[in-house]
Amino acid sequence: MNTKLINEKFAEHFGSSGELYASPGRINLIGEHTDYNGGFVFPGAIDKGMVAEIRLNGTDRVRVYSVDLDDYAEFGLREQDAPSQGWARYIFGVCREIEKRGGRIAGFDTAFSGDVPLGAGMSSSAALESTFANALNEIFSLGIDRFELARIGQSTEHNYCGVNCGIMDQFASVFGKAGHLMRLDCRSMEFRYFPFDPESHGYRLVLLDSVVKHELVDSPYNKRRESCERVVAAIAKRHPEVEFLRDATMEMLDEVSGEISEEDRRRARFVIGETQRVLDVCDALERDDYQTVGERMYQTHEGLSKDYEVSCEELDHLNEIARECGVTGSRIMGGGFGGCTINLVKADLYDNFISTAKDRFASRWGHQPKVYDVVISDGARKL
Ligand code: GLA
Repeated sequence: MNTKLINEKFAEHFGSSGELYASPGRINLIGEHTDYNGGFVFPGAIDKGMVAEIRLNGTDRVRVYSVDLDDYAEFGLREQDAPSQGWARYIFGVCREIEKRGGRIAGFDTAFSGDVPLGAGMSSSAALESTFANALNEIFSLGIDRFELARIGQSTEHNYCGVNCGIMDQFASVFGKAGHLMRLDCRSMEFRYFPFDPESHGYRLVLLDSVVKHELVDSPYNKRRESCERVVAAIAKRHPEVEFLRDATMEMLDEVSGEISEEDRRRARFVIGETQRVLDVCDALERDDYQTVGERMYQTHEGLSKDYEVSCEELDHLNEIARECGVTGSRIMGGGFGGCTINLVKADLYDNFISTAKDRFASRWGHQPKVYDVVISDGARKL
């Protein structure tokens, strides 16, 4: 991350220097679209993220410069002061959500920049939210706990950015730990760190970015969530203990198949299967059984593509290429509708996989996929 550039830009715009805060994007090994269904996710923070330089300015206004967009925004801290630029609403939303929780903040100047590719499914927005939630919590000594910092980011998405997301991305960005994945139970919010070092077992984890931009706002993402809620409502009539799809079984789903649409049934079938796959993968990792991890990843891809329908032709193509190159596991990562596949590949097949994927993808789509090697890193912090 180029902190020197941020320092220069901050000085140029605000004439002095401030403190630096950073938060990462994330990967998710398995457990997609399970978070808002009370299920399990298995993410880790990565070595790409957002960095912001921040300094109090003695006013009640926030002045923000986005280094990457070369754009400037200024806003007050009251509800009616929302900025017009979409990118600035993430920061405004975090300020508002802190204030709604009783935290008192004041005006500040900030310049920020990131190296998480936007719209690639690596949670650049969660990285931005966590950076500011964590920074403002420290700067104003608010004493907000780390789960609440993650919830502040999630509520920002819901209330200011139009995405009814779950908690996975913000959780991973705040709680990340180098060399570890985190299995989070999104119903109880209990989590456990799992050491994760595929290289010591002869594997590598690599993301292939289709460069198809996914855009979650106003997208079918919220519709997927509504499908899940309709199925829960149908099942709960017979089984009142079912609060989330995570609590449901395939048998319960069969019982209500006459009362829900075929589409909703397929959506729910994916989620129920996916919750179990996360547990299978965690068990397999504890036995160093990377083969099973990979099989579950392919099953997840299949489900996300056919049942949950959040894939696209480019991502299905990348998955197909991975299979043909003997890659151990491959699947869409994140919300879908574009972005990346995550691939678990034997180290000795890596070079061939990457060059084949570049050539074959480019000959069909006119551009190469971008390649990101995954380094599992720490969460939100002051630099
Ligand atoms: C997006 C959302 C997350 C999660 C994933 C899908 O990244 O922000 O909450 O639902 O999609 O697993």
